[in-house]
Amino acid sequence: MKSFISSHDVADIPALLDLALRYKNNPLADKTIGAGKRLGLIFMNPSLRTRISTQIAGQNLGMDSYVLNVGTDNWQLEFEEGSVMNGSTVEHIKDAAPIFGEYFDIIGLRTFPGLKDRSLDYKEHVISNLQKYSGIPVLSLESATLHPLQSLTDLITIKENWKSGKKPKVVMTWAPHIKPIPQCVANSFAQWVNAWGEAEFVITHPEGYELNKEFTEGAEINHDQSKALEGADFVYVKNWSSYADYGKVLTSGDGWMLTKDHMSFTNQAHTMHCLPVRRNVELSDEILDHSNCLTTDQAANRVWAAQAVLSELLRGKS
Ligand code: CP
Repeated sequence: MKSFISSHDVADIPALLDLALRYKNNPLADKTIGAGKRLGLIFMNPSLRTRISTQIAGQNLGMDSYVLNVGTDNWQLEFEEGSVMNGSTVEHIKDAAPIFGEYFDIIGLRTFPGLKDRSLDYKEHVISNLQKYSGIPVLSLESATLHPLQSLTDLITIKENWKSGKKPKVVMTWAPHIKPIPQCVANSFAQWVNAWGEAEFVITHPEGYELNKEFTEGAEINHDQSKALEGADFVYVKNWSSYADYGKVLTSGDGWMLTKDHMSFTNQAHTMHCLPVRRNVELSDEILDHSNCLTTDQAANRVWAAQAVLSELLRGKS
């Protein structure tokens, strides 16, 4: 593996899931594969799970990690080609990225979309500029449009909680939120579930919240949440802002918050959310505090997802 930006970087998703689960059983199985290698983790936005789990994963492989918070630990970066840097940005990615390439063996980046200019966000200009100018493998810690480490952990969590021979029914349901939220997690979950091909996959949301077809092709889209939830084995809850009316909140989403009543349509489904979650806005307390809720398992599995990816990047580099 040369970089990890989307499901397209993975030749064999089932094999990557198996590797992650092997690390879960034996975290130090490859404890020297990253000896003498340095992992740079650049955060342009806050993070709890991604930050810690990726550092633990690197440590399990023998790597040293260095975390940089853009704008506080280092200079505010500029990503626009040809920009006149007379504003708040201090250092261009063209100047900083080659230095990251000298210091680190693998570099991870967390960035969010601006949610103002769809074509700019969907061009992934931030992470692609880092790839272009650093010359080393780039690991997405969440980009403008995708969150692949989250999606990998989600598949690991579904796989280990599904023992039947038949494919599980996985439903991703839109949930209300108090502010515009990127489409990254929803795009990415759709992309990975479709690429995996081991689930019956349904997406439900109010009209106007259609995601980019590039990611949802292959899934059933149903605007009737109750119908979509019928017989679900896993319910993945996520808010996202509109893709068509880019970055806008179109509805307060009354009735869309997942509650116990919604769960009565399901097959005693497990519930999932990437976290952080707004309790009693996106999901009710009774769902989050129920034993069928997998949010802590998802977060815990972030270590094994990151470890599997880092080990593949290390192997791809040598
Ligand atoms: N799910 C997730 O990426 O969490 P953080 O934003 O805390 O890293």
